[in-house]
Amino acid sequence: MTVPDLRTARLRLRGLEPTDTEAIVRVFADPDTSRFLAADLSDPDQCRASVERRLAYTGPDGTGHWVVERDGVVIGLAHLRPSAELSGDLVEIGYFLDPAHGGQGLATEAAAALLRHAFTALGLPAVWALVHESNVASRKLVRRLGFTDVGGGEHYGGPHRVLVALPTALGQWHHVELWVPDLARAEESFGWLLTELGWQEHQRRRDGVSWKLGVGYLVVQQSPALTGATHDRRAPGLNHLALHAGPPERVDQLADAALAHGWRPLFADRYPHTGGPDHHAAYLENADGFEIELVAESPRVTRPG
Ligand SMILES: CC(C)(COP(=O)(O)OP(=O)(O)OC[C@H]1O[C@@H](n2cnc3c(N)ncnc32)[C@H](O)[C@@H]1OP(=O)(O)O)[C@@H](O)C(=O)NCCC(=O)NCCS
Repeated sequence: MTVPDLRTARLRLRGLEPTDTEAIVRVFADPDTSRFLAADLSDPDQCRASVERRLAYTGPDGTGHWVVERDGVVIGLAHLRPSAELSGDLVEIGYFLDPAHGGQGLATEAAAALLRHAFTALGLPAVWALVHESNVASRKLVRRLGFTDVGGGEHYGGPHRVLVALPTALGQWHHVELWVPDLARAEESFGWLLTELGWQEHQRRRDGVSWKLGVGYLVVQQSPALTGATHDRRAPGLNHLALHAGPPERVDQLADAALAHGWRPLFADRYPHTGGPDHHAAYLENADGFEIELVAESPRVTRPG
């Protein structure tokens, strides 16, 4: 199990280790901390057995179990792991705090750090939480973090709310605007390629078109204020845009089909490993000098589930 260190204003979350066992026994010493769990972890033996199971976790890289430390002292435990209750593809969050440290927003801070990790480092599309109907503190916590309640059901031997958090747009790019010398040519090359990759036409004006995918959109515009007629990708400014393009075979197919849509290959003699032996990508340039890189999924990327 490999989980990275996560830092917040007041906390450090680091991977659970065997030497944390007795500290975790202390976290669960109050029976209330495991009140909504199937096992009573205020019993040190049951708690140690639970820590052992957590230490034996072998899920996808970047998921697993963290201790929550404040000023070097273990005050809680948290996890992100494929859900045993929902489906192996869905990653579930969990958090437990020594009640001596409750009521200060520390559990919220720790859970928020796990969500950021899940959405930014792991690129997960969603994080799930199962919260016992009567677990008021935890229900408040997920509400504070913006989880959406999507229903209820019997889980972990009792009635639970099922909640989900989705990545937010905050900090992601809103749009990119490219000024082009010929709108029709730009539309033929960019429009074809982006549509192939699942983008949809978003806005159309007399001098511009945009396509959108997720929270961001890309505009090509033939602005009347344009001061030049060519784009030099080697001059200061934008060199190229790189897009996720699916499995290597799909990149090969797109690179081939792109030739009929205003693109020509770059670095063809080194295709498909121009960017290095582990990098499968197609580099293309359109008639106006704009470069696009189509990046294949890496077989090394571990996906949960
Ligand atoms: C669920 C659990 C972690 C929540 O602990 P908590 O102390 O309520 O949560 P936080 O540390 O985020 O503190 C939140 C409280 O601190 C207050 N608070 C103070 N400063 C705060 C800050 N800077 N930010 C957020 N909240 C703050 C909040 O208002 C809230 O109080 P309230 O419940 O009266 O509204 C804890 O009850 C627990 O360990 N329960 C047992 C295990 C469990 O059930 N886990 C969940 C399984 S799904």
